[in-house]
Amino acid sequence: MIQPTRQINLALLGFGHVNRAFARLLLSHRAWLNREFGLEWRITGIATRSHGFALDPAGLPLSKILRRRNPGSLEPHHNGPACASSADFIRLCGADVLFEASVLELDGEPAATYIREALFAGLHVVTTNKGPVATRFRELTKLARRRGVRFLYEGTVMDGAPVFNLVRHSLPGTRIRSLRGIINSTTNHILTQMEQGATFESALTYTQERGIAEADPRLDLAGWDAAIKLSILIQALMGGNTPPSDIRREGISEETGRLVRSAVRRDRRLRLVARAYRQGSRVIGKVEPEELDVSDPLASIRGLSNILVINTDTMGELAIVENNPSVQQTAFALFSDLVTLLRRPQA
Ligand SMILES: NC(=O)c1ccc[n+]([C@@H]2O[C@H](COP(=O)([O-])OP(=O)(O)OC[C@H]3O[C@@H](n4cnc5c(N)ncnc54)[C@H](OP(=O)(O)O)[C@@H]3O)[C@@H](O)[C@H]2O)c1
Repeated sequence: MIQPTRQINLALLGFGHVNRAFARLLLSHRAWLNREFGLEWRITGIATRSHGFALDPAGLPLSKILRRRNPGSLEPHHNGPACASSADFIRLCGADVLFEASVLELDGEPAATYIREALFAGLHVVTTNKGPVATRFRELTKLARRRGVRFLYEGTVMDGAPVFNLVRHSLPGTRIRSLRGIINSTTNHILTQMEQGATFESALTYTQERGIAEADPRLDLAGWDAAIKLSILIQALMGGNTPPSDIRREGISEETGRLVRSAVRRDRRLRLVARAYRQGSRVIGKVEPEELDVSDPLASIRGLSNILVINTDTMGELAIVENNPSVQQTAFALFSDLVTLLRRPQA
């Protein structure tokens, strides 16, 4: 059967590691999207903080923009109305879907404001940015429902590995009793490299060079990144209302190397563990280094890999493991959320 063609306009807010990898994925899956959904897409806007904006209602020359080694200014590609701010950009980009991948800030701003404006204007929003999701979860999910659009955030925890999609689509009527996992790649890489004698500094540099560490790596090291992800898991999967600031949090530092080596000598492993459990009507969250028995599934998670173990009332214990992710897997989260909203444009 020949499908009718659907034209969809997409806008990218942020054009760093994630949205650039997503743009490449869109290009390599153009034929697949057309075959599956009869979809023709174009990018009508790209916004950055220091490289300017580009708008073109007819579609920007994405391959050409991506070919430039040095991102430089986007202005030469601009072919639309004057745009002086990200707020202007959202109003003028003419998109059906906004892909928000700007930098993580603990208070969720200014991304939360951009997302709110986009949802309010009737755009679907897909984000990999944990800040606005953790700090404004209820407000933004309610607003999306009221406006009849989707607000999707698969890439905020374990990149494109199905966490929210798994529970949403494949675990109907399930209550999650508790969960625990290793959900920060940077600290896990540092801890497991230190087990083998590497220095804290060299292991951190590796994650920065691969675009895995946050722009401000202190957010990873102090446990904030894991606490923010845990807060999203609690709010989205357990119905709890635990903001990142209410999560008990202890990070890692150069000094942790001594504890790592001491654990290995006793055939044990040190990991930065995030856990959530119910206590009466509340959900409690903690992120802290834990010494684990080698037989614990979390102890076998090495390098950049992540794991999430969920304890459910229907399926008992289920584990999701993501092996050595790169930015390609984060980009896939945006792609899979795009497919989710094509299949089901309303929550
Ligand atoms: N990298 C990963 O593997 C990964 C994995 C999961 C989640 N994430 C999340 O995904 C998001 C993007 O990560 P990334 O690695 O792509 O970051 P990145 O390489 O630092 O890129 C961030 C982009 O956002 C732009 N930007 C920052 N503030 C902005 C603002 N106020 N308005 C418009 N644009 C703004 C930057 O513009 P300039 O270039 O002009 O500064 C840049 O283009 C972050 O929230 C991160 O936590 C990343």
